[in-house]
Amino acid sequence: MKDQISRIEQEAREELARVDSAEKNELFRVAYLGKKGKLTELLKQLGALVPEEKKAVGAELNRVKQWIESSVEEFRRKSSSAGNSSEIFDETLPGIRPPRGSIHLLQQTIQEISGIFNRMGFETVEGPEIETEFHNFTALNIPLDHPSRDAFDTFYTTRGQLLRSQTSTVQIRVMKERKPPLKIIAPGRVYRPDTVDASHSFMFHQIEGLMVDDRTTFSDLKGVLHLFLRELFGSSTKIRFRPHFFPFTEPSVEIDIQWGKGWLEILGAGSVDPNVFREVGYDVTTTRGFAFGLGVERIAMLRHGITDIRHFYENDLRFLRQF
Ligand code: DAH
Repeated sequence: MKDQISRIEQEAREELARVDSAEKNELFRVAYLGKKGKLTELLKQLGALVPEEKKAVGAELNRVKQWIESSVEEFRRKSSSAGNSSEIFDETLPGIRPPRGSIHLLQQTIQEISGIFNRMGFETVEGPEIETEFHNFTALNIPLDHPSRDAFDTFYTTRGQLLRSQTSTVQIRVMKERKPPLKIIAPGRVYRPDTVDASHSFMFHQIEGLMVDDRTTFSDLKGVLHLFLRELFGSSTKIRFRPHFFPFTEPSVEIDIQWGKGWLEILGAGSVDPNVFREVGYDVTTTRGFAFGLGVERIAMLRHGITDIRHFYENDLRFLRQF
């Protein structure tokens, strides 16, 4: 029996070395001193021994028992003073609030601009970022050999699709699916082969707009966009229309707002080119419309005095928390 005791003691020493939590400490105690614990079983056998043996073995068992009890007690004491005890939990202390996120400035800007157009009856729609050459170029009256394609030629997939270089693609998608009258805006990401610097990014956001029916004129374009710019930049905003060229509108303009002593370009726009209506299967003799496109980053930068476009994409909380 003495052999058994020293085997158990040896075993207990090894097990004790692996005790590293309150749970393991309790399992350890039960394994030796519980109702069916290894030491408890030996104590039960004590009564069957002759008196001399009983005394010696009993003393030995007691020594091991006390050692285990004090080891268990010591672990409890140490872990509660180290503060990692699960037993100490004060539910009356204030909780720890998880940090709260907020809407990214670009998304806020998109929501604000969309809100203005929605109030004028334009519906917000979305289109895919991976597009066909047809939607990104051909249907928008940009043939394969057109020089304006260079600045737009973006990232192609191995299957001949590409990341769209403009949200004008959504005009085509909507017109192919629906008949006029249409009043839509389409916010989203676009991709360009631009080298990244303070004012350029290979990816940025645009909002496209399209209004089509049988009587829309260039003066509707002026009225809608003038109202939009005054809503966004303030009712005293001065705007200027400059002749320009876009393949998918004819005539085309760039629209500037007065900014300090000078003018800043804000929008591209124009009357939808009949070639575009032809591509989507509309009757060019009875269909009229205007389209426009704007860059979201540019507008957010102007309004908030942001001088580097890269701030939008770097997820630096010191920047993001300001908005
Ligand atoms: N797609 C043009 C661009 O990315 C922006 C644009 C200009 C869109 C004129 C239009 C438009 O719908 O009429 O530069």
